[in-house]
Parts: sequence; structure tokens; C-alpha cells
Amino acid sequence: MQHPCYKILLCDILNPLSDTKSELVKGGAIALRRVKNNHFYKIESIGHAEKILQLYKLKRSVTIYNFQKYLAMPSFLDLHFHWVQDDVTLMPKDSLLSWLSKYTWPNEAKFKKKTYSKQKAKQFCNKLLQMGTLGGGCFASIHEHTVDHALEQFHGDFVVGNVLMTINSPDYLTQSSQNAVEIVRSKSKKYGKKYAITPRFAPTVDPHTMKETAKIAAKSGCFIQSHLCETQEEIEYVLSIYNKFKGFESINSYTEIYNACGLLGPKTIMAHGIYLNSSELKTLKKTNTAIAHCPTSNAPTKDLGLGSGLFDFKKIEKAGICWGLGSDIGGGPYLSMFDVMRSFVLQNKKIGTKVSCSKALYRATLKNAQILGLDKTCGNLSPNKHANIIMIESPHTSSSDTAESVLERVLLKNIKSRHNFSKLVKKTIYRGKCWEFD
Ligand code: GUN
Ligand code: FE
Repeated sequence: MQHPCYKILLCDILNPLSDTKSELVKGGAIALRRVKNNHFYKIESIGHAEKILQLYKLKRSVTIYNFQKYLAMPSFLDLHFHWVQDDVTLMPKDSLLSWLSKYTWPNEAKFKKKTYSKQKAKQFCNKLLQMGTLGGGCFASIHEHTVDHALEQFHGDFVVGNVLMTINSPDYLTQSSQNAVEIVRSKSKKYGKKYAITPRFAPTVDPHTMKETAKIAAKSGCFIQSHLCETQEEIEYVLSIYNKFKGFESINSYTEIYNACGLLGPKTIMAHGIYLNSSELKTLKKTNTAIAHCPTSNAPTKDLGLGSGLFDFKKIEKAGICWGLGSDIGGGPYLSMFDVMRSFVLQNKKIGTKVSCSKALYRATLKNAQILGLDKTCGNLSPNKHANIIMIESPHTSSSDTAESVLERVLLKNIKSRHNFSKLVKKTIYRGKCWEFD
């Protein structure tokens, strides 16, 4: 039978619950139930295998899958990545601004061609599946079809936006303000909360476009995403540009530029936020703006990042600001959220700040689902949520194992090279449909 009413997956289970708590079930089972008249599945119950098998013993149309050598986790949400930057992840990263102008922008220009964009979206879709990422906040290029192609092709719950670039950009990637606003109007109408208004970053967007698109966001309920305080050089650059605009002469922080344009709020996600002063922290808190922290992108160039600096998550949490993890492909080198989680843990360890692997997992799953307004349907393995699950080979365990010790083995101990993270996921399940990888 192709679509049984129930699927029972026998496997070990690792389920994030909060910053400090993940549950581990060895010899577990996840029971999925098919949604009426549909081919998609939700999680109905989860627990020890004997208990779950007993519960479903008398039900009709049950298929049992023996995945006992695997460890199941919820699929990932990547809070910040550029789907059109897959080919510049390993280009020389001397500084953010030079990497953008030398490699990233010329590469994004190729997406003007629809056939190219569509073919790249198909490839990227397979990569996302293989990494176990089934949702997130995604930047496309300035070309509106790159939003359509991503939303048509990617399996998962993604929020996507075309970047807006009206000033200080190469001719081949400069759009008029009118064109930018028109695209935002039509895409926000078409996609609603799957769309994010995406001023690339303030240096490349004029204040009129920022203000007009912010008004559209307020009416349409779509998201807003951009970059904020990623490097010192960028901050000096943006202030030198904006202080020349009428009405912005006395503005003295990057955050205040976005705030003055009406772009901050509970549906806004700002990537990076490394160099924020105390008044900016207050503004982000007051407006309920979230931050996407991208440790592998911020990492030193020797670790294949842009060398932007260290994100002080403790300062951000103390200020009461929401944050989650992102890969920032191509500023970050690898798409796997395992690599991102590892980097977050290790960077903090290096400066003597202890963070648990459970916290990293929570920030790569449930917290990001919350920020994206998706936590009713995804983010972890709770009953009633969609069956969005990844399976990795279960690390050899002992009876004294905890969720934290198992995760530590996966992220820090069993990994010989960062490349291996790309091969960790053996099955990705989206709403009950399964893709397998060798
Ligand atoms: N700031 C503006 N554009 C970009 C981008 O594409 N990547 C990163 N990391 N920062 C940016
Ligand atoms: Fe980025």
C-alpha cells in the first residue's frame, strides 16, 4: 500500500525542547498519521517502541519501518541563507565588501537568465534535502523569478525574498526604486507570509524604497529580512551614505536607519548584528526584531568565513532579543546546519563561554520555527506537527548516554572533517515523504 493511514518509524530519537533541554529516546518509535484525503503525514505520537507498537496493534493500514540503526531528529530551519550564492562559498574572503563586489554580485547576475535560475534551483533543492534543511529565511537575487523558482522547487517551509538594490551597486544589478517597489507589491500579494521584503542592506537601498516597501510589509503581513552590523567597515560605509540623505543627517547608528524607515518589527529578521551598541540593542528589543546569527560566516578566513567577528549571544539574550542560527551561504562555506551548530559551540568554547550542543540544536530548529511563525507545524517532533524528520546513523551509545552526550558525539567527536557533515543525513522526511541518501 502506497499511502498507509499510519507509518511507524522505529528509531532512536533526539528531540529539542528548549535551550537547556533535549529528550533522548533509545529504542523509540514515531507514529505518523496521514492527514484525511491527503498524502501528507503528521506526527501522532512518540515514545518507546513497545508502547507505540502496542498502541497501534489493532489499527488498520499500518506500515512499520525498521530504522533502528538511525537517530531521528527534527529537520533543520536555516534562518539566513542566500540560495543564489552556492558557487561563491569558497571564493577568497578578504573582506565582506570586496567579496561582494568581486565574486558575489557577478555571480548573482547570472540568475537573470530564467533557464539558468531554474536549473540552479533544482540543484539547490537537492542540496537542501540532503542537508536535512526543510525551512528557513532565504535571500534570492534581484530577479523576481528567483523567488518563484525557490518557492516552486524547494521542499519545505521557506520564506523567500528578492534582494532590493537601487543604489551603490554595479549597473548590472541596479534596479529603479519604482521597479523594486512594484516587485515587492506583486510578490507580497502572491506569497503573503512566504515572502520576505529583502532590502539587501541599507548601503544598497535608497530611503524612499525602504520606506515604501516597509508600508507594504505592514499591510500584507509578509516578513522583512536584511543584514545589520556585520562588519565595522560596513557600518562606517552605511553611515557615510545615509548621513547625506535628507532627514537622516543626524542619525548615528545602522539600526536607527532601518528603524526610521519602518523596517523593524516582530516579523523582521536581521542577519549578524555583531557590532550593536546599547541603544541599538534597546531598539531591536523594543521592536521585537530577531537576529540570525551565522557563526560559520563570521568565522575567520582560515576557517572559510568572512572574518567578520564574534557574535556575543549572551549580550543579545541579556537584552531580551530573539535569535536563531543560519548558514549564510555563501558567506558561510557549508549548507549543513550540523556545521553551523558545531561552529557556534566551538567559537564560544574558545573564548571560555560554555554552551551546550542542545542549545545549538534548539537554535537550529524550534527557535527558528518560532521566529518564522512556523512552530505550530514544525521545529521539533511534537505530536500534531508535520512529519519533518531527518535520520542520521545512530552514534554508538552506552546506557549512561544523555541527549547532550549523543549530540556532542555527533557534532564534536565523530567528525573527521567538516565535509563529513554533508554526508551525515541518510533520510530526510518532509510531511511523511522520504528521500534517501547513501
Ligand atoms: N551584506 C550585504 N549583502 C550580503 C551578502 O550577500 N552576504 C553577507 N554575508 N552580507 C551581506
Ligand atoms: Fe547574508
